[in-house]
Amino acid sequence: MSRPIEDLPTPAVLVDLDVLERNISRQAVRAKSAGVRLRPHAKTHKCPEIARLQLGAGAAGISLAKTSEAEVFADTGFEDIFIAYPVVGLGKAERLLALSDRLRLAVGVDSVEGALLLSGPFAAAGRRLDVLLKIDCGYHRVGVLPENALAIAEHLAELPGIRLRGLFTHAGHVYQAETPEDVAEIGKQEGEILASTAVALEQAGLPIEEVSVGSTPSARHAMRIAGVTECRPGNYVFHDGSQVALGTCGPEDCAMTILATVVSVPASDRAVADAGSKTLSQDSLRPRPNGHGLILGTQSRLQSLSEEHGVARVEDGDSFRVGERIRILPNHACVVSNLHDRLYGIRANRVETEFRIAARGRVE
Ligand SMILES: Cc1ncc(COP(=O)(O)O)c(C=O)c1O
Repeated sequence: MSRPIEDLPTPAVLVDLDVLERNISRQAVRAKSAGVRLRPHAKTHKCPEIARLQLGAGAAGISLAKTSEAEVFADTGFEDIFIAYPVVGLGKAERLLALSDRLRLAVGVDSVEGALLLSGPFAAAGRRLDVLLKIDCGYHRVGVLPENALAIAEHLAELPGIRLRGLFTHAGHVYQAETPEDVAEIGKQEGEILASTAVALEQAGLPIEEVSVGSTPSARHAMRIAGVTECRPGNYVFHDGSQVALGTCGPEDCAMTILATVVSVPASDRAVADAGSKTLSQDSLRPRPNGHGLILGTQSRLQSLSEEHGVARVEDGDSFRVGERIRILPNHACVVSNLHDRLYGIRANRVETEFRIAARGRVE
């Protein structure tokens, strides 16, 4: 039986199901029309039921960031997982070996040292782990520079316990882009850098079957570059305040909101909600910081957070009263999921379903 959202205790994370379904289907159509496989990054929701909706709309598999997330998704029957992260650490290769018994698995690498740690246990078991070499296309977080890719790939090709499936990149610097033109340019470069690196490796005799790009803002541009085979946007399922600020989507495309209660109005220009950093995280609005979440239907934003308090500056024309319930558009939806046990799936302001965030807190 569905119940009205008025019955929910706060703070609560709401997901508008109509918007969620539309976001999932639009991205699937976009990837299909570009002729690339869609492998959504499920770290955004950490929720197998939502990943099932993505697969149902045509996704070829899922991406995750952590081994422990992959274990949760494997337990619920997912058969094709790419851990888009350089997996290095105590016991990780053995856990990957166990996972690879159960599903089609690949992981990221960006160093020979890291690859050696994976290759040893796989070779000892008479197996090979598929890896994708991470290329730095300008974000300068992890990844090898394109000009160094061939030398490292040649090393990887010699290791007995791994198989180089392909290349991947993530243009995270797109979140600093000031204009839609800059977003498009970064996306185009992301695709071009990865596709040209793949060509160089193939010309040197290394087969590259996967050329994988994608962030939510850049994917639509990067996926159209010839040679790209796969895209991995994650945030698009929900979108958030940062995607609106970047021009990726409109406010109507944001599926996730936080239902909160105004617990105090200590001054005419200040209202305090029961949603602080333990509900929203401290992540800034991108590309330009501007508070910690817009209060929907108003001009006011949470301007500072402590753990359980979200303090809004009340803008001219807005007013709040103690006990009032508000909806907040978070700056960054992916981190919100990791802070909560469940999402409430709503339609027309009624709770239709609850999603358990099964991989919540799985960070190793
Ligand atoms: C390696 C990698 N791939 C894909 C994504 C998905 O990007 P987005 O969250 O912009 O959709 C991320 C996000 O952080 C990532 O780190």
